Amino acid sequence: MKRIFSGIKPTGHLTLGNYLGAMRRWVEIDQHRSDALFSVVDLHALTVEHDPARVRRLSRQAATLLLAAGLDPERCTLFVQSHVDEHARLSYILECTATDGELRRMIQYKEKSAQARGSGESVRLSLLTYPVLMAADILAYGTDEVPVGDDQAQHVELTRDLAVRFNQRYGHTFTVPRATHPPVAARVMDLQDPTSKMGKSHEAGAGIVYLLDDADVVRKKVLRAVTDSGRDVAYDRAARPGVTNLLEILAACADGDPMELAGSYSSYGALKKEVADAVVEVLRPVRERHARLAADPSYIDEVLRKGAERARGMARPTVDAAFSAIGLLPA
Ligand code: TYM
Repeated sequence: MKRIFSGIKPTGHLTLGNYLGAMRRWVEIDQHRSDALFSVVDLHALTVEHDPARVRRLSRQAATLLLAAGLDPERCTLFVQSHVDEHARLSYILECTATDGELRRMIQYKEKSAQARGSGESVRLSLLTYPVLMAADILAYGTDEVPVGDDQAQHVELTRDLAVRFNQRYGHTFTVPRATHPPVAARVMDLQDPTSKMGKSHEAGAGIVYLLDDADVVRKKVLRAVTDSGRDVAYDRAARPGVTNLLEILAACADGDPMELAGSYSSYGALKKEVADAVVEVLRPVRERHARLAADPSYIDEVLRKGAERARGMARPTVDAAFSAIGLLPA
């Protein structure tokens, strides 16, 4: 059976981008066709300025939302990254495999470090080494496929490079994974700025639909989405980024084809109304189940405890093999 691994970092409230780009496929497809692990990757949330209490809250909320979205702990392994030491152990070994130059080339590092410097903050070293920890997350489990949105493609490429390099130098240890992306909505854009990604860590919330927004708020955000200067509804990412984003969201929610959908609307207003309805309907059950699950924190704790135990057992042999291959004396 294929091994699948993916993760989500608790740096903010989860968004429609996380849902359509990643979570929904984990729930509907991945957990049924593979031996799948999904992780709330909390160590990754420490790479930028953070409030400890907030990270703890968001980690629990992310785990609850993943269950609310439909991950079934009987079918997949759901756990919190920091509960499994193997990630940090392997990360160091991979730091001894990666180069400074290749990490400095990562787009997200360039963007986020520039942002931090711009606002007078120092750049944490972990922001630079973050993709190595991500590679460790993936390689520790002998992962074949990594279902992610478009923005993670470069990090998975690096993971592949590190696996191949390590295997060549020290003997075959790691499975070389590949990224998979959803056919539509692999990059959901901000509704107020359709040239930038809808991201949970962004400050302003008007262009971001959060999974826990109530229906009225979702509707308002979609109806106020920035559209383009043309009038006809056309699917064209470069010339019509706003409308194209709405068509992608609708296509993802309604399992349709964005180009075909473009032909069904004669005005932006009609399209927006349909998108608002579709998003509200997709999020409604998630929000309702979240409310029920959040009322029972001991259930969530138990799921995460069992998940971490299972994950530890799966990662240990590979990480031990990497320690041994690279020249460390067995304990
Ligand atoms: P994160 O937490 O930013 O996002 C989690 C998942 O959601 C996808 N995503 C989007 N998809 C479409 N449109 C968007 N606007 C959008 N925003 C986010 C992301 O592509 C991702 O699949 N580095 C990762 C977390 C991570 C990871 C891993 C993922 C750590 N270790 C190992 C896979 C495997 C991240 O920051 O995702």
